[in-house]
Amino acid sequence: MKNIIYIIIILLAAAAVYADDMQFNCADCHKNTVEVLKKGHAQADSFSKCFDCHDSESKAGSLGQKIHLKHTDSLGSSAETCLSCHAADKDGNVSVSHKNGITFSKEEMKDLADKFATWNDSPYLANSHKKSGVYCLDCHDTFGPDDVDEMAKKCKGCHGEYEDLAKKTADKKRNPHKSHFGNMSCVKCHNVHEDFTDFCDKCHKTNMKWNRKIK
Ligand code: HEC
Ligand code: HEC
Ligand code: HEC
Ligand code: HEC
Ligand code: HEC
Ligand code: HEC
Ligand code: HEC
Repeated sequence: MKNIIYIIIILLAAAAVYADDMQFNCADCHKNTVEVLKKGHAQADSFSKCFDCHDSESKAGSLGQKIHLKHTDSLGSSAETCLSCHAADKDGNVSVSHKNGITFSKEEMKDLADKFATWNDSPYLANSHKKSGVYCLDCHDTFGPDDVDEMAKKCKGCHGEYEDLAKKTADKKRNPHKSHFGNMSCVKCHNVHEDFTDFCDKCHKTNMKWNRKIK
């Protein structure tokens, strides 16, 4: 009996340690949860409890977007900043999710940080989406190359099909949204983390008027 109680105590202690670091180093900078929660926000007695309510499917919304928005201004978006909060395990794998075990290497975190910086503050489309409340996960599922190929569905989900878009740019000499390419990937022109590309100009001298810089 005594042994079982000891085992239970050890298990509970281990769970408490794990729960409180929850793969994120919140406690390195914040004494407790009370210090960071606004008046009127539900109370939570440990950082791991945040996920009870903040999940991507829940009404409270996923924690990632909220926490990133709270920290990018004060901490910046360098790779070191990312790692100050996202703990790396002893093999250098960085966890970005409390539940599905997705990890990135430190090098991949650096690439993510570069993209992150353009979302946070840049002349590119990523930043105008941030200002409109559009988050990484509204466009990305996995942050990989396949993901980008599939993305036009998400773009159209918010902006409409090519027929709708063609009406908005009908005044152009060559309508970029209506061409012999039919249903093409939006990203052929609208790069998100860098300058736009004038795709049609590769063959026609279109002189299209762009609202932002092109490569
Ligand atoms: C490297 C230090 C650092 C780490 C790690 C960190 N924070 Fe912060 N946090 C800050 C700073 C600095 C601020 C901004 C204070 C300010 O701008 O007034 C802040 C602000 C916040 C705020 C906003 C408080 C307000 O007044 O609106 C919340 C919420 C928050 N942190 C939660 C967390 C959570 C949850 C974690 C872990 C996932 C975490 N923080 C990890 C440094 C950190
Ligand atoms: C009992 C449920 C619940 C728990 C637990 C919870 N939250 Fe929230 N939180 C909410 C709801 C609901 C909102 C409002 C959703 C919205 O923004 O529309 C919210 C909003 C927020 C916001 C945005 C509002 C603001 O201050 O700007 C932040 C940041 C936040 N929560 C952080 C946290 C952190 C950090 C924890 C863990 C220490 C936590 N929450 C635990 C329910 C919860
Ligand atoms: C202050 C803490 C903090 C900092 C700094 C931070 N993150 Fe996060 N990040 C979180 C939290 C909390 C989540 C939500 C994890 C979850 O839902 O399990 C998250 C989630 C993510 C995700 C998964 C997508 C999502 O939103 O759930 C990625 C990718 C990510 N972070 C990358 C980065 C990068 C790159 C940086 C540096 C530019 C960074 N993070 C800086 C706390 C932080
Ligand atoms: C969750 C909804 C959402 C998704 C997903 C989304 N956008 Fe947007 N986008 C917006 C909002 C909101 C605005 C700002 C209001 C407007 O101009 O319609 C905007 C603005 C724009 C603009 C014009 C503003 C500018 O700064 O040039 C372009 C072009 C654009 N989006 C292209 C895209 C492309 C390409 C994708 C996919 C890679 C995409 N959007 C994904 C919601 C979304
Ligand atoms: C409006 C949609 C949109 C938003 C919001 C967005 N991205 Fe992207 N992302 C793209 C597109 C499109 C590409 C392809 C490269 C380009 O056009 O700039 C891309 C490329 C990337 C890549 C490189 C993928 C590869 O392997 O080719 C990473 C990593 C990435 N984004 C991370 C992020 C992170 C982190 C955020 C949030 C801070 C974010 N993105 C926000 C649309 C988006
Ligand atoms: C790979 C080269 C190539 C690219 C890229 C290209 N076109 Fe074309 N386009 C052609 C060729 C070849 C013709 C047929 C010959 C002609 O009539 O000039 C043509 C014909 C046309 C025509 C009908 C003839 C005319 O000149 O009015 C239109 C309109 C047109 N293209 C629009 C576009 C638009 C819009 C884009 C960008 C989405 C685009 N094209 C990109 C090669 C290209
Ligand atoms: C061949 C290049 C090209 C492609 C491909 C393309 N666009 Fe555009 N788009 C343009 C140009 C040119 C403009 C107008 C000038 C500007 O916004 O800089 C524009 C404007 C827009 C606008 C702003 C419209 C307004 O005035 O309100 C949105 C939103 C948009 N595009 C979304 C999309 C989406 C979503 C896709 C994919 C389904 C897409 N575009 C594919 C070239 C393109």
